[in-house]
Amino acid sequence: MNCRFLDYKMVNEVLIEKIRKFVEEECKKPDANYSNAYKFHFISMHKIAKELAEKFSADVEVVEIAAWLHDIGAIVDGRENHHITGALIAEEKLRKLNYSEKNIEKVKECILNHRGSKEGENKRLSIESKIIAEADVLDAFDNIAKQFLVTLVYEKKSLEDAKISVLNKLKNKWNQLEFEGSKELIRSKFEAVILLFGD
Ligand SMILES: [Fe+2]
Repeated sequence: MNCRFLDYKMVNEVLIEKIRKFVEEECKKPDANYSNAYKFHFISMHKIAKELAEKFSADVEVVEIAAWLHDIGAIVDGRENHHITGALIAEEKLRKLNYSEKNIEKVKECILNHRGSKEGENKRLSIESKIIAEADVLDAFDNIAKQFLVTLVYEKKSLEDAKISVLNKLKNKWNQLEFEGSKELIRSKFEAVILLFGD
């Protein structure tokens, strides 16, 4: 087994690689939704999540697996309930790979609670689930253009509607940031969004 140690916690790199590959393959399928997401979101979001997990001494393995899988429901089944469908897909896949039931539950908690737009349903109790939500938001600000890609290409909105939609989505994401230092990290980008698209 190919493993690395982080703060005395073993990380199963072989399993993480299998999950990464699974997500990449799902994105390549002809009927995949948001097929560009692997390139424009999953890779960068996983990197941010892993860094946060190491910084906060969280369970890096759970965070890495949840980062790869957090939007799998949107790819396979569409955006609407992707936190729920994603958790079910993750559960099935991880069980097939003989992952421990305890960690499957941790991964599912991350996926079920990662959406800011599903406020009221969110119960981010673990540091791992907070990290997944935070990394998702930080990644959105890393490449504002991809917010337009989603809104114009996948959601098929007009340019005028897309501006309002992207502005509202990014305002909502900004308000979700919980960790100390996160807002400072992206403040200039958020202010630029308000300047460019605000009224
Ligand atoms: Fe995401």
